[in-house]
Amino acid sequence: MSRRVAELLHSRIVDVESKVFPDGESYVRLTAPVRGEEVAVIQTLSRPQDTSTIQLLQLVSAAKEHGAIKAIAVVPYFAYARQDKRFLEGEVVTAGLLVRLIKEAGADAFMTVDAHSVNSTKGFTIPVMNVDASPVVSEKLLEMKLNGASVVAPDEGALDRARSLAKFLAGEAFSMRKSRDRTTGRIVMADADFDVSGKNVVIYDDVISTGGTVTEGIKILRRHNPSRIVVACVHALMVGNALDRILAAGSEEIIATDTLPTTVKTVSVAPLIAEELSRSA
Ligand code: R5P
Repeated sequence: MSRRVAELLHSRIVDVESKVFPDGESYVRLTAPVRGEEVAVIQTLSRPQDTSTIQLLQLVSAAKEHGAIKAIAVVPYFAYARQDKRFLEGEVVTAGLLVRLIKEAGADAFMTVDAHSVNSTKGFTIPVMNVDASPVVSEKLLEMKLNGASVVAPDEGALDRARSLAKFLAGEAFSMRKSRDRTTGRIVMADADFDVSGKNVVIYDDVISTGGTVTEGIKILRRHNPSRIVVACVHALMVGNALDRILAAGSEEIIATDTLPTTVKTVSVAPLIAEELSRSA
């Protein structure tokens, strides 16, 4: 990802030496000077998320300590973004904690791709860029002849994202109604109150983790006899047997982006990140 973004921007790439010591602590080192330069630190928060997070903080700090005039933290997948509020008493709003830490490390701006919600990046006192992946996701879906497809968000919080994708596909956007038991994690989804009979459907979410959400969505939508069902998401964590579950439930394929390493087919968000970086320069 970093290399592709650098190539698109005709920028120099600074290689990073990184390792995790036998005791689990992280180490990073910039292998070239950055004094007087504007630096984009591209570090996704993929698994192991906690190690990736500390390395992001180290890299932003390293850039500023070594004289960069500006450090933009580019975090394609912003882990912990779903803990964007206190759902149960005693919890910590981890997204907000990361916001404070990234700023404190020295970031002058923050960029991510499809942050879970507006609350996820709330509290930043530096410019925030939230890149919408739907232009590149839609390209792939259009290749799959899904123009005019109905785009279904698995919950109301994902409806704006579905609307954005639907615009590119020239289709309509709908949302399912989902609730989650905050203690057991079990989700309950209400029956669809929109019509997908005989239509092509794309279920579009920001994150697929265990696959439970989209699998439940597929099961419900299938009762309404759609023509085709394809699942798309931005950040495909694909924990355990998520991929098999989703395919077995009836999705033709799963399309995701390259915001993190994954086991499913991806489209690259590098051009969108490069474009946003060149706009912010
Ligand atoms: C939650 O609101 C997110 O947008 C995703 O729907 C959720 O994290 C997906 O998780 P899973 O794949 O485990 O159901």
